[in-house]
Amino acid sequence: MGLLDNKVALITGAGRGIGKAIALRFAQEGCNIAFTDIALNDVVMETEKELATLGVKVKAYASNAANFEETHQVVDEIVKDFGRIDILVNNAGITKDTALKRMTEEQWDAVINVNLKSVFNFTKAVQPVMWKQAGGSVINMSSVVGVSGNANQCNYSASKAGIIGFTKSAAKEMGVRNIRHNAIAPGFIITAMTNALPEDVRKQWESLIPLRRGGTPEDVANVALFLASDLSSYVTGQVIATSARMSRVRSSTAAVV
Ligand code: NAI
Repeated sequence: MGLLDNKVALITGAGRGIGKAIALRFAQEGCNIAFTDIALNDVVMETEKELATLGVKVKAYASNAANFEETHQVVDEIVKDFGRIDILVNNAGITKDTALKRMTEEQWDAVINVNLKSVFNFTKAVQPVMWKQAGGSVINMSSVVGVSGNANQCNYSASKAGIIGFTKSAAKEMGVRNIRHNAIAPGFIITAMTNALPEDVRKQWESLIPLRRGGTPEDVANVALFLASDLSSYVTGQVIATSARMSRVRSSTAAVV
């Protein structure tokens, strides 16, 4: 018996990275998976295949999470295909890091729209479904820099801080229908992106993490599993940080989310 048997999860941006790790973890617990990504490329189709080997119902959808209309269309399609949505993971996200003095309006708008407006788009589209079901768990992917800020990431940290405000407000609004909203704030997670950092910068970050190592996508997926399942049935409006630093360091490159 799995923790999410026969439930349906909608995960955005799950073609790779943390979203994919969450989809795999949920599927291992018996959850059916509808996931989106910006395009159905080879990587995304490979993820769909990998998930299907776990014996649950799986379907990938192309959808730009920043687009309000597209989001509502894809949610309608998913409800037609799967019949319900029990769990929504707002995971899709991008970075466009640079110093504020060089940041363009396009870089600001792109990050706010993909990271923050997407949370509004999907939560709004899924709300009537969960409201009718009188239950649901919404998990939003924030970041420790949404709490602490980070040089060269004014756009990114503003989007991730916005997600925290949204999560806490939605939790207060929808708790009455047993719809829970929580956020995860990952710190230094080992992905293709953070692996590209110079060795000395990585080591410096790791030395400031209480557990003395970067987190893995699977570490984040296990936190998402807790928030998705009935184990967290009395947890809402919370932000759970993973692999947070003990104090701030000024990274020579900004590509640490
Ligand atoms: P990633 O870049 O590996 O994966 C992001 C996925 O979102 C990709 O598959 C991408 O195609 C998709 N995506 C991008 N724009 C989209 C759009 N407009 N519509 C739909 N899908 C879109 O990134 P990663 O590392 O897996 O990050 C996932 C989430 O976790 C993001 O929200 C990120 O900000 C957050 N995060 C990541 C950390 C890290 O260290 N990797 C740390 C803290 C937060």
